[in-house]
Amino acid sequence: MSNLQTPPPEPLASTALYLPDEAATEQLAKALSDIFSHYFSNSYEKNSGTEKSAKVYLRGDLGAGKTTFVRHFLRAMGVKGRIKSPTYTLLETYKVSSLYLYHFDFYRFTDTEEWHEAGFRENLGEDAIVFIEWADKAGPGLPTPDLELYLRYESAGRTAQFNAFSEKGKTWITKLIHRKMPTGDQ
Ligand SMILES: Nc1ncnc2c1ncn2[C@@H]1O[C@H](COP(=O)(O)OP(=O)(O)OP(=O)(O)O)[C@@H](O)[C@H]1O
Ligand SMILES: [Mg+2]
Repeated sequence: MSNLQTPPPEPLASTALYLPDEAATEQLAKALSDIFSHYFSNSYEKNSGTEKSAKVYLRGDLGAGKTTFVRHFLRAMGVKGRIKSPTYTLLETYKVSSLYLYHFDFYRFTDTEEWHEAGFRENLGEDAIVFIEWADKAGPGLPTPDLELYLRYESAGRTAQFNAFSEKGKTWITKLIHRKMPTGDQ
């Protein structure tokens, strides 16, 4: 065997859809924000003491639309003011009511231990919504996400593929599919 690395886990569920323009990306981000808003408001009230977090890793080439998606998501969650890309700061933090939202970008990491040294493991353990662009740069020590959003260039637009790696990620994908996005398929 030439490849001794652990293979990535198989997703529990997946769905893909075509996003012809940024407006379609915005619509998808809004749909996810509705689902997350519902999940966090319900679980905060009913399941106090249990873990309530969402980890979403965004994959795709430079300019594929990762930051654009998170920006529209944050706006839909009620974040006001300027939403910066975390490319240079590595982390931008937001708070809406009592909910923390972390937007990371690991593009500039040259070493897989850097995120550890930066103290980011703490954020990843919190009850929060966490988005990470270029998560691969942090290496295999990063926790498995609930959802992965893979954005690929296709014609003038993008294809968005969601993969779920946890039971709650699977539930969210099911909800997204049931919202019947206009261009959606499976
Ligand atoms: N569905 C879409 N169709 C066409 N263009 C889009 C779509 N969604 C976003 N865009 C455009 O693509 C660009 C995406 O830039 P963005 O900074 O979000 O990419 P990124 O994936 O975060 O890149 P990086 O890896 O450099 O962080 C923006 O100019 C945005 O307007
Ligand atoms: Mg970006």
